Amino acid sequence: MNAIVSVTSDWAIGNEGHLIVPNRDDMRRFVALTTGATVLMGRTTFESFPNGPLKGRRNVVVTRQPSYGSDHPGIECAHSLDAALELVAPDEEGRGVWLIGGERLYRSLLPRCERCYVTRNRTSVPADAYFPNLDADPDWELEEVEEGGVTNAGVAFDFATYRNLALGF
Ligand SMILES: NC(=O)c1ccc[n+]([C@@H]2O[C@H](COP(=O)([O-])OP(=O)(O)OC[C@H]3O[C@@H](n4cnc5c(N)ncnc54)[C@H](OP(=O)(O)O)[C@@H]3O)[C@@H](O)[C@H]2O)c1
Repeated sequence: MNAIVSVTSDWAIGNEGHLIVPNRDDMRRFVALTTGATVLMGRTTFESFPNGPLKGRRNVVVTRQPSYGSDHPGIECAHSLDAALELVAPDEEGRGVWLIGGERLYRSLLPRCERCYVTRNRTSVPADAYFPNLDADPDWELEEVEEGGVTNAGVAFDFATYRNLALGF
């Protein structure tokens, strides 16, 4: 499993349930990397999507609410982290699994991820959700940085890949 996230300079990822840095190139890259794969997310992140489940991907949502899945077609639900990992396990060797957020899911499952694909937007904005600072975590090593560009709002960004040394990657 790999994680994918878009962060600001202080590793912020969201505010009041929404993304905080509009970045079309980041969205395009997210679609390109995750299409055809399984995406694993928390219930709050799922509910932040304006058009329901992400098309062309197997959507797995983690929630403690027992009847959540039956109310939401197009998703599969897991009611614990262990159940979620079991549900996506067959895809690990196949089409691939992407952990796509939000904060609580990242914090819980990041140690299980091999790589983390981080769009690093050089800006600082009000936020209430954060990603762990991988630069300060000895388990994670910066593997590669690809030049990004500048958003319509003038925010410079790049695409960084971190690998999980604790898993031997
Ligand atoms: N910048 C990015 O790349 C990015 C990506 C994704 C999300 N985000 C942002 O992140 C924020 C959302 O993060 P969040 O931490 O509030 O929510 P989240 O991680 O998306 O979802 C949290 C929910 O997942 C369920 N859950 C979590 N741990 C569980 C467990 N162990 N067992 C069963 N269910 C569990 C619970 O659902 P129930 O309450 O239904 O039980 C919990 O309320 C938003 O602002 C969003 O925009 C940013």
